[in-house]
Amino acid sequence: MIDGIPTLEDLGDVAGKKVLVRTDFNVPMETTPDGTRRITDEFRVRAALPTIQWLTDRGATVVCASHLGRPKGKPEDKYSMAPVRDLLATLAPGVELLENLRFDAGEEGNDPAFVARLIDGVDIYVDDAFGAAHRSHASIVGPPRTLPSAMGRLLEREVDVLSNLRKNPRHPFVAVLGGSKISDKLGVVEALLETVDALVIGGAMCFTFLAAQGHPIGDSLFEPDQVDTCRRLLALGKEIHLPEDIVGLDAEGNYATYGRRLPAGAKGFDIGPGSAAAFSDIIMEARTVFWNGPMGMFEDERFAKGTRTVAQAMADTKAFTVVGGGDSAAALAQFGLEDEVDHVSTGGGASLELLELGDLPGLKALREAPNARV
Ligand code: 3PG
Repeated sequence: MIDGIPTLEDLGDVAGKKVLVRTDFNVPMETTPDGTRRITDEFRVRAALPTIQWLTDRGATVVCASHLGRPKGKPEDKYSMAPVRDLLATLAPGVELLENLRFDAGEEGNDPAFVARLIDGVDIYVDDAFGAAHRSHASIVGPPRTLPSAMGRLLEREVDVLSNLRKNPRHPFVAVLGGSKISDKLGVVEALLETVDALVIGGAMCFTFLAAQGHPIGDSLFEPDQVDTCRRLLALGKEIHLPEDIVGLDAEGNYATYGRRLPAGAKGFDIGPGSAAAFSDIIMEARTVFWNGPMGMFEDERFAKGTRTVAQAMADTKAFTVVGGGDSAAALAQFGLEDEVDHVSTGGGASLELLELGDLPGLKALREAPNARV
């Protein structure tokens, strides 16, 4: 039991039992010119294998269930689990994978009738879907109400690493945040400011902070309704580092480098070389680093340098390094550095919510499972 949550070892003998494993196989896909859907990053599927193997090695029959994308409660070919099922058949032969849970409105609606169908004939529930543990959906919070339940290996490691960041990080603790939507991240920014020694901000979200400092930001992406909140956070007097230079496109669409002031019509798409070097120095001197969100539009090679420099610093520093899922994990993989950090989280939103609130609906549900209460 960890923090009141049963682990695989607490399930007793699983031989001959049917185990429903909630996984997060919400993997990125591309459609090839001949119309075939192809998984572009298998990370989340491979990350679930230790749990699946642990159960099958002990004689359990494993049925996996996951959502994929955001279908609206009815089947849609482009969200079918078929490509994932094919991959799973090669990685874990004999393991069944149900069709996309979100093809039924009962999943997101947390409908008890849907839960009943899902667990019909199932003996045990295992949650290994860290990336979805912040959703109060049927397959996450429903089964532990009645079935003996446990967290899988992936969920266990995620909770261990991220809770430790929250409660017991080695200092200096630095958080590096990027990405575009600041409104999604203000909660975690506030929570992190309580524990970090320095907060580094890049990506499009830096423009709302720069605007809050009164800098002209040209036509760069920003969230006007968050400027006041950014101003309040900056006024807390904590160590917050913003880029000192920006690269992007001028009003005519030419590549350009600026300081903190962008002229009318200019758009910033990456932190500049000075900022990348400064952020890298901060990461190198830290003892714990959490990174979530790219520093710029790294999919475009012209604007990938800031993210690449931060990723390289994450790989080179002696600090304990944790990368939040989503785009920053994709960036790390694009640069071939995913094995050079201590922990790559499988959850983007979930890792931020766990850092902000210290708990998730999926974890609460497991704490209330019948075998957790005894
Ligand atoms: C994710 O990719 O962050 C998880 O799979 C959750 O997906 P959702 O944001 O569609 O609930």
